[in-house]
Amino acid sequence: MSTTRVLPADPSSIAVAAAALAAGGLVAFPTETVYGLGGDAFNPAAVARIFAAKGRPAEDPLIIHLADLADLRRVTPNLSPAAAMLAEQLWPGPLTLIVPRGPAVPYSVTAGRETVAVRLPAHPVARALIAAARTPIAAPSANRFGHTSPTSAAHVLADLDGRIDFVIDGGPATIGVESTVLDVSGPLPTLLRPGGVSLEVLRELLGEVALGGRAATAGGQLAPGMLDRHYAPESTLHLCVGTPAACRAWMRDQAAAQIAAGHRVGLLLPDEDAVLLADLDVDIEILGPAGDLSVIASRLYAALRALDSRRPALILARDFGEGGIARAIRDRLTRAAGRVVRCNDDCGLQVS
Ligand code: TXA
Ligand code: MG
Repeated sequence: MSTTRVLPADPSSIAVAAAALAAGGLVAFPTETVYGLGGDAFNPAAVARIFAAKGRPAEDPLIIHLADLADLRRVTPNLSPAAAMLAEQLWPGPLTLIVPRGPAVPYSVTAGRETVAVRLPAHPVARALIAAARTPIAAPSANRFGHTSPTSAAHVLADLDGRIDFVIDGGPATIGVESTVLDVSGPLPTLLRPGGVSLEVLRELLGEVALGGRAATAGGQLAPGMLDRHYAPESTLHLCVGTPAACRAWMRDQAAAQIAAGHRVGLLLPDEDAVLLADLDVDIEILGPAGDLSVIASRLYAALRALDSRRPALILARDFGEGGIARAIRDRLTRAAGRVVRCNDDCGLQVS
């Protein structure tokens, strides 16, 4: 395939894109979290094309997206009471549930597992597209494997132009980080990826929720050499976890040293830090007010891509804690970072 067509998010374009999906084609589409790269989940050839277009290893399973709760029985034989309650309370929305695999789901979607990831997105364009395709849609984030997830149609094209049939332009994604992934296939619900639905909300609904997989390692506690370089920019990124004042002091030192060595530096900053560091000769991308983390999350990937496109030698960012969506922001920045530095009153050499 040579070119990818950008379609507006109107009913006739959605019909064209849905026909392409039903025929085994690939369509990127907006969701409330990030843009997805969709293909017919029940068509193994389409699923194989998704992996090829992204350059994604076959061991990494895909999320199946539904338009309607009634379609759930096409992908899973039975829901536990906890899973049914969560689906009822939190769908449509940014929550992916890991549930037992139904017999119709190809093993290529689940990477050979007996569980399958499923979600009902809230975005009206995603819902209309999946409903019109009349089949569940397997969709990873619409980026090249390991790269930052796309929150606009332009980001999708930057990564996948010529590798997919269509991208539907639904404007910027509102949440801006991927869905929460919760494994409800076993006795204890386990958070595998923090995202748009917070751990606090899940604990309120479920009581105990374990931290598993990557959720257990987020927050700068990854051992050196064990960093999962997902969501990674091309430039090196260093993340400061600590008080705002200590992180600002650290950024100022780091930036000055790089500038003195003739290197360019990019800073990913909330409004208040941008004001306080405005005198530095650096590239700054402003994320929004530190007190409004939903704005910070919604701008995070676009800001990271914008800085990265200018290829600074080093990008510096800071953490926003772990309450609510901050846990997802921390997880993504930790995974993008080549180095996480803990700064409280002063950073010293507390490097992890
Ligand atoms: O917000 C989102 O979730 C976006 C939009 C497009 O829906 N999708 C997304 O997909 O982020 P992807 O493929 O980039 O991330 C899916 C995550 C991966 O970490 C994958 O390993 C995990 O879900 N996953 C999928 N199936 C799984 C399974 N059966 N068991 C455990 N983890 C699974
Ligand atoms: Mg992804």
